[in-house]
Amino acid sequence: MKEKTKIAVFASGNGSNFEAIAQACAQGRLEAEVVLCVCDHPGAYVTLRAKRLNITVLELKPKDFISKKEYEEEILQQLHKLNVQLICLAGYMRIIGPTLLSPYEGRILNIHPSLLPAFPGVDAIGQALNYGVKVFGVTVHFVDSTLDGGKIIAQAAIPYEGNDRGEIEEMIHAQEHALYINAINRVIGNGHC
Ligand code: GAR
Repeated sequence: MKEKTKIAVFASGNGSNFEAIAQACAQGRLEAEVVLCVCDHPGAYVTLRAKRLNITVLELKPKDFISKKEYEEEILQQLHKLNVQLICLAGYMRIIGPTLLSPYEGRILNIHPSLLPAFPGVDAIGQALNYGVKVFGVTVHFVDSTLDGGKIIAQAAIPYEGNDRGEIEEMIHAQEHALYINAINRVIGNGHC
């Protein structure tokens, strides 16, 4: 029997996508296991979710390290220790540097709340609302050295004509949770990890 893929989820804040992935693993909807939660904001809500689910948490303040390289080396050490095969960024508001990218190239996924290549970077939902789009969306893609520019794995469109931020955020989050599980299953199934 194929061993479960070991996943590390990186998150900076709320962690609803982290929890959706962890629950999908626990319920057998994903042939994988979340073995680590990496958080760059110690005490963020995602860390409470992880502790509740008995998932190891690595909480780090990037400012405590002399460089991004040192910060990522510390993470890399933990990833190797736990034999992590796949990294899922889920609201991790930081660019992945070469220290992590090079050993995990093709094995790092990100979820972004827009139909990329539209609205990359921060506050994609705000950007889309300001632009006045009538179709919002969600993208899961491989991470490369560009900003939200890696190869797309899955997308979902969300038609919405209103301008209520809370309402569209809720719709996007619900869609994200389903799409991310689907995309991870596809990547694992394709033998990437
Ligand atoms: C999600 O909407 C995710 O797409 C977005 O942060 C949110 C995290 O929510 N990520 C980005 O904007 C990355 N550029 P969560 O903490 O509840 O999972």
